[in-house]
Amino acid sequence: MVGRSLITATVAEIRRDVGAARSRDPAALDVGIVEILAAWPGVQAVLAHRVAHALHRGRVPLVPRVIATAARAVTGIEIHPAARIGPGLFIDHGMGVVIGETAEVGADVTIYQGVTLGGTGFQTGKRHPTVQDNVTIGSGAKLLGPIVVGHGSKVGANTVVIHDVPPNCTVVGNPGHPVRVEGRRVEGPDTDWVHLPDPIADAIKGLSLRIAALERAAQGEHASGEAPEAPPAQAAGNGAAGEADSRAGPTGPVNRAIGPNPAGG
Ligand SMILES: CC(C)(COP(=O)(O)OP(=O)(O)OC[C@H]1O[C@@H](n2cnc3c(N)ncnc32)[C@H](O)[C@@H]1OP(=O)(O)O)[C@@H](O)C(=O)NCCC(=O)NCCS
Repeated sequence: MVGRSLITATVAEIRRDVGAARSRDPAALDVGIVEILAAWPGVQAVLAHRVAHALHRGRVPLVPRVIATAARAVTGIEIHPAARIGPGLFIDHGMGVVIGETAEVGADVTIYQGVTLGGTGFQTGKRHPTVQDNVTIGSGAKLLGPIVVGHGSKVGANTVVIHDVPPNCTVVGNPGHPVRVEGRRVEGPDTDWVHLPDPIADAIKGLSLRIAALERAAQGEHASGEAPEAPPAQAAGNGAAGEADSRAGPTGPVNRAIGPNPAGG
C-alpha cells in the first residue's frame, strides 16, 4: 500500500518536473518525456535531488551525497541533499547552479544557469536563501544569506541579492534593488537605493583626510625642526562646513594654531 502511494507520488512529481520544462522552455515544447529526461540537465538534477533528499531525510548515510556528487558531475548543477525544493522547479541550461544546504525553494520556481543560492560566510544554521513560489532567477544571479525572495518576484541576470525581496518585485543590479513593484516602475525621490547616504563611510573618509593633513603638518614641522601643532577639534560630518570647504573633507581643514607653541621650550 505504502509502496503504491510512493510510486504514484513519484510519478506525479516526475510529470510535474517534466511539465515545468515543457511550459517554461520554448525549446522543450514539442519534445517527448523520454527525450526531456535524457537530455535536459536541469530536469535530471532536480529528479536526482528528489531521490537524494528522500534518502537524506531517511537518515541514510553517504548515499545522498554520492547521488548529489554524481548529479553534479553529469549536469554541472550542485544541490545539497538537505536543500528543500518545492514542486515544479525548472533549472534551464543549469551549468554552474549551486543550491546550498539550508536553501528553501518554493513551487514553480525557474532558475537559469550560473545561479547561486549561497551563504555569506562560515556561519552555521539557516544561512541560505528562501525563495518563495513562482520566482524567476536570471542567469548568473547570486542570492546570498538567509534572505527571503517574495513570491512572484524576478531577479535579473547577474544581480547580487543580499537583502529580502518583497513579493512581485523585479530586482536588478549589484547590490540588487527593485526597479518594478507589482509591475509598476519605481519612481519618486526615494528610488535610488544604490547611492544611499553612508554617515559612517563619510566619517571614516573625513578622519583619513585629517590624518593625512596631520602627517603633512608633522613632516613640515620635522623638516623645519619644530614640533607639530595640533589641529582644532571638530565634529565629523559637519555638513555645512564640509560644504563650504569640501576639499578639506567633512572634518574641516587642519588649521595652524595661533599663539605660543604648546610643545613648550
Ligand atoms: C529582470 C528581468 C527578469 C526582466 O524583468 P521585467 O519585470 O520584465 O523588467 P523589465 O524588462 O521591464 O526591466 C526593468 C528594468 O530593469 C532593467 N533590467 C532588466 N534586466 C536587467 C539586468 N539583468 N541587469 C540590470 N538591469 C536590468 C531594464 O533595463 C529596465 O530598466 P528601466 O526601468 O530603466 O526601463 C530580465 O531582464 C532578466 O534579467 N531575466 C533573466 C533572463 C535570463 O537569465 N535568461 C537566460 C537565458 S539563457
